Amino acid sequence: MSLLIYGAYGYTGELIAEEAVDRDIDVIVAGRNEVKTEHLAERLDCEARPFALNAAPANIDDVDVLLNCAGPFTDTYGPFIEACLQTKTHYLDITGELSVFEAIAERDREAEQAGICLLPGVGFDVVPTDCLAGHLHDRLPGADGLRLGFDPSGTISKGTLASVIEHAEEGGKVRRGGDIVDVPPAHRSRRIDFGQGERDAATIPWGDVSTAYYTTGIENIEVYTAMPKPMANAARFSRLASPVLGFEPVKRSLQALIRATVTGPSERQRAEGECHIWGEATDGETTVTSRLKTPETYALTVDAATTAAERVLESPPEGFQTPATAFTPEFVLELDGVEGFFDE
Ligand SMILES: NC(=O)c1ccc[n+]([C@@H]2O[C@H](COP(=O)([O-])OP(=O)(O)OC[C@H]3O[C@@H](n4cnc5c(N)ncnc54)[C@H](OP(=O)(O)O)[C@@H]3O)[C@@H](O)[C@H]2O)c1
Repeated sequence: MSLLIYGAYGYTGELIAEEAVDRDIDVIVAGRNEVKTEHLAERLDCEARPFALNAAPANIDDVDVLLNCAGPFTDTYGPFIEACLQTKTHYLDITGELSVFEAIAERDREAEQAGICLLPGVGFDVVPTDCLAGHLHDRLPGADGLRLGFDPSGTISKGTLASVIEHAEEGGKVRRGGDIVDVPPAHRSRRIDFGQGERDAATIPWGDVSTAYYTTGIENIEVYTAMPKPMANAARFSRLASPVLGFEPVKRSLQALIRATVTGPSERQRAEGECHIWGEATDGETTVTSRLKTPETYALTVDAATTAAERVLESPPEGFQTPATAFTPEFVLELDGVEGFFDE
């Protein structure tokens, strides 16, 4: 049984490839740059498969599971989903991009017919929040409102920054009555105790606005992150910059600048960081609250993505899945260093 990791020489892809090789998974490292792919394969003592996206079908035909780590995923998920459906290969990725989740969810029936699973979001976004959503729904099955949030520590990688810029002009998003609706950036703010006392927080267009709906069926969803008030105000003002960020040459220049200048997080930051996850579900009368504590976001991503790939290699579900529907909400508790669920 083999796992092909695409984007394997990127910051996160390389960490996942190292972990997968350490766990004795039969790994093929892949990416569009031949030299970088072959150097990595040599270092990890595994097979190299350099190829561009348009050559995906011929290059994944003999593998069991594809784990796509090449983001921004808006640019990469499409050719891979087509290739996976064509070659009957299970698809996983580490996207956090809301529009990508929605587009992949639409391929559910085709995936079932092909007998494969489409499982995006097996990184920090959305494993812990999605599992917490599933857990809250188990506690209050009649809930019609769900709020999720996280208080991370540490820095983010250049690939994540490039993905944030990719979607910056799209503003905020929440789910209302089952539909995803546009709202201004940081349009709601409130005080939230993520697990270390109350902090200011504001809404963000996080992937769970898409995925938590498929996990729980709850039709009203907001996602918050810890955000000091001045930052929330700046996010609201950023609406004025949206047209500029939506201009393709500006977007590409910013992404190129980031790729050339941003590094990290470092091994030490990954080892020392932690993240607090909070959620509440309500049916209008009763509100239940639960929390999780996790390792630093990239450390969690590496463990979650590798464990999800192992699970799919062993016993693949079919159709479009979220982490909690594929493996149950308790999946997150199997990951190293995760503590919870802390229920109120
Ligand atoms: N879900 C989560 O919690 C989570 C956690 C970590 C990262 N991520 C996401 O994962 C992605 C990668 O992050 P990173 O930190 O590893 O970034 P990175 O270091 O910039 O690596 C990106 C990788 O993707 C490849 N790539 C990008 N666009 C491509 C395209 N159009 N065709 C082929 N290959 C392409 C790059 O290849 P080249 O170098 O050849 O361009 C590189 O191998 C980002 O979108 C980030 O937001 C998500």
